[in-house]
Amino acid sequence: MSKKGRQTMRLRNSASTLAAFGLAVALSGCGSSEDLNTVNKGGTGDPSNPGYTPPAGTGTATTPQTPEEQVRQILDSRKADYGEALRTASLKLRDALPSMVEIKTIEAATDDAAKKVAYEKLVDDMIASPEFTLVMVKFWKDTFRTGQVGAVQMGAANRDTAATFAAQVVVESRNYSELFTQTANTCPTYDPVAKTFTPATCAAGPVATPTAGLLTDPGLMSQYFANMAFRRVRFIQETFACSKFPAEYSATPKPLGNGTFTGAFPYESITGKVNTPTAKIDFQDTSAVICANCHVNLNRMAPMFTNFDDKGFLQAASQVEVPIPGNPKAARIDYLPAAEGYAWRAGKPVTDIPTLGAAIAADPEVGRCAVNRVWNYAMSRGDIVNDLATIPNAVTDGFTKDFAANGGKLKETIRGIFKSEDFVKF
Ligand code: HEC
Repeated sequence: MSKKGRQTMRLRNSASTLAAFGLAVALSGCGSSEDLNTVNKGGTGDPSNPGYTPPAGTGTATTPQTPEEQVRQILDSRKADYGEALRTASLKLRDALPSMVEIKTIEAATDDAAKKVAYEKLVDDMIASPEFTLVMVKFWKDTFRTGQVGAVQMGAANRDTAATFAAQVVVESRNYSELFTQTANTCPTYDPVAKTFTPATCAAGPVATPTAGLLTDPGLMSQYFANMAFRRVRFIQETFACSKFPAEYSATPKPLGNGTFTGAFPYESITGKVNTPTAKIDFQDTSAVICANCHVNLNRMAPMFTNFDDKGFLQAASQVEVPIPGNPKAARIDYLPAAEGYAWRAGKPVTDIPTLGAAIAADPEVGRCAVNRVWNYAMSRGDIVNDLATIPNAVTDGFTKDFAANGGKLKETIRGIFKSEDFVKF
């Protein structure tokens, strides 16, 4: 099939998927004020708006509609507006308004089919422009929360390298999994004047650091330095799996103490008073919350990150503290009994940060998370975790499948989303 044919098919698929799962789409739009491009426009086409006028010939007072029907109607009544789409795409893909020539190109196209061709060509041009690289660096700085004002301070890690590396992987159409698995040159710099990336090895401390994409980036390690290294693991979970802890749930939750144990590893498998009377922190406590619900996973990753110091550099011994009187440095036994191993998820054991990176790269949820973050960016929604701007799977399923099939090229996902019906219709 031609490239064009595939594109058209994808658009149709995404439209039918949306119609079929209309209710879910409406829920995702609910109460999200920045959700300007999705179904809930807050205008007269929005049933929740007092000024709502039902489209002619449907939805009269005598035939009340189900929410699904209402949403389908709204979706079907959207019209493509390539001029408006161009304006938004231009701001998002190169941080500038379209030129007069570009606006006229869309205007001059005689019908919707011709406007679509002209618009899609302009999207390709924007994605190929050097400004797109700067947009990507900013996108990742926002995602990683690593914006840094001024020069790198003496002795501190460069906080820009993680976002620059992620941008490079996207712009150069490399596999997204390199963010977790790449073993060299993960701390590049970008020169906006020469418009080039310069590959570089990350700065290191006294101990040679194994490189595993962003997972060993000194800027990130420094930014997320905290007691017992839990914040570093939380960063990985929330940024790349798009959800807060608990990271996963057992199919068979069990009543425990004053709550319910939902973890996918045995409750006894982490350190606590039951198996370790001298435990510094009782992760088996059940008196208020069930610590183990989150910590069965957290405790299987955090010990791998304890030796990075507050500057982000790997040291020979643990650098993070246990928050109890005396603030002792955290040791492996503070997290796990000696016989327990590390893991990304139940059934996904790992031994060190590089094998953790491989497990993360292989997790389909991580691919979906990348796609959903791009979707939210395109549609002007908030952060998927912190603003609860979650997306029903059905909405981005097509893009997620393509992303997995095309070798993790996020640039193609961006291209697809900015050309999708949901983006160009209003
Ligand atoms: C809902 C998930 C969840 C539950 C339940 C939970 N934790 Fe945590 N815990 C976390 C996360 C995530 C962090 C990292 C927070 C951060 O630094 O941003 C954390 C951090 C910690 C820390 C380090 C705090 C610090 O000073 O930086 C300790 C100690 C801890 N948890 C112990 C416990 C204990 C004990 C319980 C039960 C009483 C518990 N947690 C319940 C998710 C959870």
